[in-house]
Amino acid sequence: MLNVAVLVSGRGSNLQALIDACAEEDFPARIVAVISNNPDAYGLERARQANISTSVVNHRDFDDRESFEAAIDLELKNYKAKFICLAGFMRILDARFVNRWKDRILNIHPSLLPSFKGLHTQERALEAGVRFTGCTVHIVRPEMDDGPIILQAAVAVDPEDDADNLSAKVLELEHVIYPEALKLVALGRVSINGNKAVIEKATYPTGGLISPEPIS
Ligand code: GRF
Repeated sequence: MLNVAVLVSGRGSNLQALIDACAEEDFPARIVAVISNNPDAYGLERARQANISTSVVNHRDFDDRESFEAAIDLELKNYKAKFICLAGFMRILDARFVNRWKDRILNIHPSLLPSFKGLHTQERALEAGVRFTGCTVHIVRPEMDDGPIILQAAVAVDPEDDADNLSAKVLELEHVIYPEALKLVALGRVSINGNKAVIEKATYPTGGLISPEPIS
């Protein structure tokens, strides 16, 4: 059983997906704590409702990132966490922290990485006119939204879509692939080879192609 801490800053819908998955019988991970930098994060409430321990480590209480992260590290140690899931955690983690937890931090990002790192991904996807967008679960590296990809899910962009409904469609898939990726990791089926994650005994769906008119 893998002991996981989830770090959140906001509404925590991905946290909820992880809580629900961990409640299933035979799920190979359990959430030992939810830690937030934001005392008002709704994710903390979700954790309390699921009887999961919570801690607030407010970045505003610290002089610098190093001491903020040292306080998070201490919490992780106290809860005996062996793995971290970032779920809408809005603070950048320093390379020292990331390297201390090398290959033991997962993140979910609402784009098909390496496209559209950073914020406002669906607005930028619409602006770029891409036909597909989606979400990615990846191992965290010091660069923002970078690191070996575990799972991705794609959504076709409808010409009628705006950023809000596209985000909602993507979020639905986030809630599917985040627990799935954690499960693969917790089962020991993921190995990291340089910049890539290799999944043991995986099956892959074939991709679809959107074409405006069939070519005759
Ligand atoms: C999600 O879109 C996730 O991909 C991104 O931040 C958002 C968090 O949403 N990293 P929630 O707090 O999990 O509802």
